[in-house]
Amino acid sequence: MNRICEFSVVLVTLPIMLFTGTQAANVSSIQARVAAAEDTSYEFLTRLGGQLKRELADGGPESAISVCRDVAPAMATELSLRNGWQVSRVSTKPRNSLLGMPDAWEQNVLNSFEERVASGETVGALSYYEVVDEPIGQSFRYMLAIETGGLCLSCHASPEHISEGVATRLNELYPYDQATGYDLGDLRGAISIKQPIQ
Ligand code: HEC
Repeated sequence: MNRICEFSVVLVTLPIMLFTGTQAANVSSIQARVAAAEDTSYEFLTRLGGQLKRELADGGPESAISVCRDVAPAMATELSLRNGWQVSRVSTKPRNSLLGMPDAWEQNVLNSFEERVASGETVGALSYYEVVDEPIGQSFRYMLAIETGGLCLSCHASPEHISEGVATRLNELYPYDQATGYDLGDLRGAISIKQPIQ
């Protein structure tokens, strides 16, 4: 009788221990992924913002277009290659419809960010993450909202507030540009990070 009892205690407790062990590992590995995604996103925003600010001061908005057009995608590629992730900038109203177009998951998160802003949250504090199952496997996905700051308006404000020189250049480069009409504090888009889970 005793042996049966001992046996059933093992049978019952072992799966519980294994289960809680696995859960704890997952929670801490997800927390590590969130922290790493946050670090990378803030690095992206800070480095890009710094270059944009310098170029706007030195050469004005027309010449700063190249920071957003060339430097931003190059930085996204560099940060992607560093960890084997996909790092990008997306928006519901992209300027670059090839690089800036959100996929279905990103579109949903951007919509939920809009709703959270409408219910009083500030753009700068918005982020979201989820482990997503796809046919190719599981991935950890993370998004950090990007706020429209004063620096951004020379190229993303309403057309009547964009100088003629900048508007002409943007029209040449982006005939399907949707990324105007923003005010200070608006949600401009988000950094999006996708990490494969092996
Ligand atoms: C000098 C003009 C200029 C300024 C200033 C500027 N942008 Fe942009 N922005 C662009 C251009 C050009 C693109 C398209 C880049 C590309 O081809 O990938 C762009 C693209 C973006 C994208 C990617 C999604 C999309 O619309 O294609 C985001 C997000 C973005 N800008 C946010 C900002 C924010 C936030 C600021 C202010 C901190 C800012 N931009 C300031 C010109 C500018």
